[in-house]
Amino acid sequence: MATAAIERPQCRTEPRAHEALKQHFAEHPEERLSHPHKWDVSRSDIYSENTWQPIFKEMREAGPLHYIPESPFGPYWAVVGHKAIQHIEALPDTFSSSWEHGGITILNRLTDEELAEAGIEERRELPMFIAMDRPQHTGQRRTVAPKFTPSGMAEMEGEIRQRTGELLDSLPRGEVFDWVDKVSIELTTGMLAILFGFPWEDRRLLTFWSDWAGDTELATVRDLDEMRWGFLNEMAAYFQSLWIERTHDKEPGDDLISMMIHSEAMNQMSPQEFMGNLILLIVGGNDTTRNSMSGFIYQLDKNPEQRKLFEQNPDVIPNAVQEMLRMQTPLAHMRRTCTEDTEVFGQTIKKGDKVVLWYLSANRDEEVFENPDKLDLTRENARRHIAFGYGIHRCVGARLAELQLRILLEEMHKRRIRVHVAGDIERVRANFVHGFRKLEVEVTQF
Ligand code: HEM
Repeated sequence: MATAAIERPQCRTEPRAHEALKQHFAEHPEERLSHPHKWDVSRSDIYSENTWQPIFKEMREAGPLHYIPESPFGPYWAVVGHKAIQHIEALPDTFSSSWEHGGITILNRLTDEELAEAGIEERRELPMFIAMDRPQHTGQRRTVAPKFTPSGMAEMEGEIRQRTGELLDSLPRGEVFDWVDKVSIELTTGMLAILFGFPWEDRRLLTFWSDWAGDTELATVRDLDEMRWGFLNEMAAYFQSLWIERTHDKEPGDDLISMMIHSEAMNQMSPQEFMGNLILLIVGGNDTTRNSMSGFIYQLDKNPEQRKLFEQNPDVIPNAVQEMLRMQTPLAHMRRTCTEDTEVFGQTIKKGDKVVLWYLSANRDEEVFENPDKLDLTRENARRHIAFGYGIHRCVGARLAELQLRILLEEMHKRRIRVHVAGDIERVRANFVHGFRKLEVEVTQF
C-alpha cells in the first residue's frame, strides 16, 4: 500500500499542509476514507466508543481552531476552544446558520445533482428558525420564546413534577431495565406533551415523529425520503386538528399551540413555517433532554463520591444539573457557514467555509474549567458550559430542559432512589446527538 507516501503534517492549520494533503488525495482518491485525518472529529466511532476526549484535548493544546482538509463531509474548520466558539456565535451575520448556506450540522445539504441521482424529484424542506439568519430568525423565535419565560415555566412545574413522581414510583425494583426507554424517553415525551397540550394518550407519537424527522441521514435515499415525508404529513394533519380545535376555544389555553395562534408575530408565518417550527421544538427538545437524563445516571454511577454528595445534600441539585449538562453535552456540535473572509484567532476563514463548533470540546476546555474531565457537582463556574450554545440562537428551551432535569433529581432524592448501571451500555453512533441508545440499570434505595 502507498500509505508511507503520506506526509502527515504536524500542524493541520498550516495552509501548505492542506494543499499537500489535498493533492495527495486527488492523486490517490482510494485512500481518502481509509486514512481518516487524525483530527477528523466527524468520525462517529469516536462517540459510540467514547474515545473522543484525548483527540479534542490534543487539538485544544494546539490551538482553538483547526482546518480539517478531508472528511466524509468535506473540508471544515473544527472550532474546539470555548472562547473561539463564543466569538464566532457572537458574529451571526458573518457565520450564518441559514439552511440556504448549508444549515446547522456538519452534514451537507444535498445538491440538486445529488437529489436527481437519488431519484428525488423535488426538494422538500421545512423552514425552521434554528436554520435562519436575522431578521427572519428574530421574528419567528419571538412566536415561541414567551412560553419559556420563568413564569411560563412556573405554570408547567406542577404537572411535570407530578408526572415525574408517578413514573419514578412505577419503576421496577430488583430487576434490570433500560433507563433510556423507561425513563429518559418517557419523561421527555411527557414534558413535550405538556408543553404542546398534546393528548396524553398519544404522547409516544411525538417520540416517533421526532425520531423520523430528526434523522437527517435518511433523506439521502429516495424511499426513506418518501417515508419520512409521509410521517411529516401525518404529523402535520394531527397538529392541524389541534390547531382547529384550539382556534375555536373561547378561553385561549396556556399551551404552546394556543399561544402561537394568538401571537401577533404568528401572522407573518406561513403554514409550512408553523409546521417546521413545531418540528424544531419537538426534535430540539427530544434527543437532547433524553440524553441528559441518561447521562446524569451514567455520571452519578461512575462517580460514587459525587453521588454520595448528591444523596447527602440535595442543595447541590441546581448546580449539579449544570455540571452534568457540561459533562454530557447532548449536542456535540452546531455548524455555521462563513459569509465573508474573516480573521479569527489568527486564522483566515474564507467565505463559504464550513465552520463546526464543537461544544463537546469547549465544555472540557482547560482554560475555563479546572480539571475538566472530573465531575464536580459543586464546581463554581459549571454554569459557563455552552451545551445550550451561545448568542442569538442559544437554546430557546434551555429553561424547560433545566426544569425537567432538576425535578428528576429532586424527585429521585425525595424517594431516596439510587440508580446503578447494571448491564449493557450502548452509545449513539453519531457526531451530532451525543448520548445513549441503551443504559441498563437497577434501582435501589439509599
Ligand atoms: C437550539 C441544545 C433542550 C428547542 C439549541 C442549540 C443547542 C441546544 C446547542 C443551538 C444553540 C446555538 O446554535 O447557539 C439543547 C440541549 C437541551 C435542549 C442540550 C437539553 C438538555 C431543548 C428543549 C427545547 C429546545 C426542551 C424545546 C422544547 C430549541 C430550539 C432551538 C434550540 C427551538 C433553536 C433556537 C434558535 O435558533 O434561536 N438547543 N437544547 N431545546 N433548542 Fe435546544
